[in-house]
Amino acid sequence: MYELSPSILAADFTCLGEQLAKLEAAGVRWVHLDVMDGMFVPSISFGMPVIASLRKQSKLFFDVHLMVEEPQRYIEAFRDCGADSLTVHAEACRHLDGTLRQIRAAGMRPAVALNPATPLCSLDHVLGLVDMVLLMTVNPGFGGQSFLPESLPKIRSLRKLLEETGRPVDIQVDGGINEETLPAVLEAGANIIVAGSAVFGEDIPGRVERLTGMMREHQGT
Ligand code: DX5
Ligand code: ZN
Repeated sequence: MYELSPSILAADFTCLGEQLAKLEAAGVRWVHLDVMDGMFVPSISFGMPVIASLRKQSKLFFDVHLMVEEPQRYIEAFRDCGADSLTVHAEACRHLDGTLRQIRAAGMRPAVALNPATPLCSLDHVLGLVDMVLLMTVNPGFGGQSFLPESLPKIRSLRKLLEETGRPVDIQVDGGINEETLPAVLEAGANIIVAGSAVFGEDIPGRVERLTGMMREHQGT
């Protein structure tokens, strides 16, 4: 399964509902919601009230990426405001395993994120608890950064590990993905593609079509 998950961090916040409707009309199924707490990352973005408002207007799959210290504190709150998938950073959780189990018990898809410098062995004891691993392809905190090519061997290693163990886990990539960098991450084995600045701006449907066209082409090969 391949999905484009546009990050609204790059959207026009004065008309978020309309922007989500445009994504839906363009055939997108997922939307990526970046929550930042000003502690785990320097910036602060938005939280539950914004997500709850969008939930009332949208049937998109809400892929919520928490860049938040000790996110275990907020699991039920994000479920209640409409998250379908909840991603926590391994670096931000004192009890990663308990946090992931609690996300599943709350009825959401659990996912774990790793910063660029966090090794894949951090996943050793939690891979059986998640539906998705998010490999950051920039250091989290801001949209519009440049893709780190060092992440490609890491994506490849994780894909190989998942194939060897036969685990049905998605690999998501996030940060600096655009028409130039997309082919390399697909080739390396990513199947859920986050893109912020490459999707929002003039001509959202055209940008979506170009990115998803590349994904379909890859899938066909
Ligand atoms: C970065 C966020 C990303 C970001 C991606 O910390 O997690 O989701 O919005 O933005 P682009 O695609 O512009 O790099
Ligand atoms: Zn993100």
